[in-house]
Amino acid sequence: MSQIYMEPGVHPHEPCDSGEPVELKTFDSLASRLRIVSQFTAMTAPDRLQDLVGQLRPRLRNVVGVTIGKGGEGKTTTGVNLAYMLAQEQAYLAEQGHAAKPVLYMELDSNGNGRLDLKILGSQYDDDGYGFVGAVTEDKPLAVVKNVKPYLDMTVGGSANANLAAEVSRLASKHAQAPYLMLAMLLAQISHLYEWIIVDFSPGDVSVQRLGLAAVTHLVTPVKNSDDAMLGGLQTIANLVADVRLINPELGIAAIGFLGFKKVAGEATAELDILRVKIELLLEEAELDGGLVMRDHIRDSRSLATACRNNGMPARELALAANELLQDEDGQPVARPRYTNGRLVEPDKALELAEDWSTFTGDVIKRVVERNNELEGAAA
Ligand SMILES: Nc1ncnc2c1ncn2[C@@H]1O[C@H](COP(=O)(O)OP(=O)(O)OP(=O)(O)O)[C@@H](O)[C@H]1O
Ligand SMILES: [Mg+2]
Repeated sequence: MSQIYMEPGVHPHEPCDSGEPVELKTFDSLASRLRIVSQFTAMTAPDRLQDLVGQLRPRLRNVVGVTIGKGGEGKTTTGVNLAYMLAQEQAYLAEQGHAAKPVLYMELDSNGNGRLDLKILGSQYDDDGYGFVGAVTEDKPLAVVKNVKPYLDMTVGGSANANLAAEVSRLASKHAQAPYLMLAMLLAQISHLYEWIIVDFSPGDVSVQRLGLAAVTHLVTPVKNSDDAMLGGLQTIANLVADVRLINPELGIAAIGFLGFKKVAGEATAELDILRVKIELLLEEAELDGGLVMRDHIRDSRSLATACRNNGMPARELALAANELLQDEDGQPVARPRYTNGRLVEPDKALELAEDWSTFTGDVIKRVVERNNELEGAAA
């Protein structure tokens, strides 16, 4: 696999177009998840659940979760940028005449900020999460918004996602652990159509945690704060991985990454060095590998992060637009993006942030591919 995000390749020489038109795609011939769930009760022999889990697992190895047991650590920013960078690689492969598949971004949280980051909020495709929740909990067809960016599709999350918790808990009261596999069953039916599926969720509610954790194979944990609340959130994730063993024996943290920390001459400062040591100790106590802590990090750039969100552009797209290298569907250059105060985004600053995300994505995927090789080796 060629990895454009590994190269300092955010200096493209060719203008990038905005890809295929955005459209709604509905997967309407999916097998019923409720029918399977209804076969389970508290009395069902445990090996029946294991059979189901065993069938699902090999189909979910391209599913990556972005989570930490605390709000506001950068899950959505990380999920969206990972998805965008991975989609850019697929677009690049397609352009070179190679086989390529789109990437799917999915958000379980009810704030639905992914809609802002990918410029879908308030559009004709934004149903506030109702369709998505219906697909997960009621067997309704799954709708995805295709081509929100080149080679990137998304499901729409919004206020309706707040109903996920109650619905899944209600089903779990009748059907034991099986309802936590409803998202896994849904994704297992479409995962072959996507190169990667990125699931963004915060472990606020225990049933939503389990729903997300049962569906993904790899976890990426973003860290933006250096306080004890963040360390608690990380501890929560480490505990949960052990907690969901029965419904997901393959789940593991692939990487812990940092965003919003200063870079001085390209290097981390003492604040981040100290934080890394704290996290490594915490991992040691949880009998996890200190090597999960990523070496490179995303620089502190609050104004650019805000410009990304307010313009509905992931960092690399913002950098392309700031360098006048992005074209709209009519082949016209996209106007240079601005900060909230009206100032134009500086092309070089935008490129620096995009390069951070490029390195970050390359490192994450390297770790994910290594974990997949181990999992496949163990299964053989
Ligand atoms: N490189 C950066 N430097 C500084 N701040 C950043 C950077 N990247 C993102 N942020 C800011 O971090 C904040 C939290 O980001 P984000 O919404 O991604 O977190 P989250 O974990 O998804 O939050 P929630 O739990 O509310 O869903 C945002 O205000 C965003 O602008
Ligand atoms: Mg979020």
